Amino acid sequence: MTESERYTTESGEEDIERVRLGMLAAARDPKTFALLERVGIGAGMHVLELGAGAGTVSAWMADKVGPDGRVMSTDIDLQFHDDMPDNVIVRQHDVESDSLPAEHFDIVHARAVLQHVPTRAAVIEKLLAATKPGGWLVLEDGIFLGFAEQDLPEPYAGLHRIIASGAMNEWHDPNYGLQVLGRLRELGCTDLDVVGDVWAMRPGEAGGEWWFLALERAFPRLVEAGLTTQEDADAALAQVRAPGFVMVSTTSLATVGRKPV
Ligand SMILES: C[S@@+](CC[C@H](N)C(=O)[O-])C[C@H]1O[C@@H](n2cnc3c(N)ncnc32)[C@H](O)[C@@H]1O
Repeated sequence: MTESERYTTESGEEDIERVRLGMLAAARDPKTFALLERVGIGAGMHVLELGAGAGTVSAWMADKVGPDGRVMSTDIDLQFHDDMPDNVIVRQHDVESDSLPAEHFDIVHARAVLQHVPTRAAVIEKLLAATKPGGWLVLEDGIFLGFAEQDLPEPYAGLHRIIASGAMNEWHDPNYGLQVLGRLRELGCTDLDVVGDVWAMRPGEAGGEWWFLALERAFPRLVEAGLTTQEDADAALAQVRAPGFVMVSTTSLATVGRKPV
């Protein structure tokens, strides 16, 4: 039995979310670490990990900045945040309403956070104000465009279309990754760059389970709303968890920019 199967059969929604965040981190961490290396994370730096989730990036950054550096690891909700090394300051912090120190950080990183924050354009300006002149913003967000349209077997295909297109609502912009470059350009950032990737999503692998676990949480609500039957929901979950199943991921886009000196 995989870790995800154990949790989803024996535990409640909170545990599913904990495992889902862990899967997201495991799938994305290697790419994130490469990006942070690329902008030169190193000993003695002060860095901010915004919306840290479980804190896997914060823990990795702590090792890179060493005992003379500091990581500020924030999230509006710390229930899933792991224990951290001594050089990590963990803060419950709402990036929309709480303040950040001015021109303090060498690197500010946020992954899959801005798409959830209604005042995201203003938040980017706030993050830039918290960055030292010459420091870096590394902002990773998803792009769901096209994800709903891929060719999939029924009955999963119908449910996938509902969930993937329903990801857009008044406060969540699942395509915000596409807007970040323009925002950084508008704010006068230099050294602009983007790195994107798409991967194969498979059952039992972190790269697929972050989504399949979200389906497990969403399907009972679709049944309750009369949008599908319990039979189709069960069949769809069996399809995505069948050995050999594979589908195309959303796009993950990292945008990098530097605050002018
Ligand atoms: C999809 S999770 C991503 C977690 C982590 N960055 C990762 O990639 O593994 C989004 C995170 O953003 C946090 N978040 C949402 N709104 C926030 C806000 N206004 N201020 C700070 N964190 C926020 C959530 O609590 C959640 O932990």
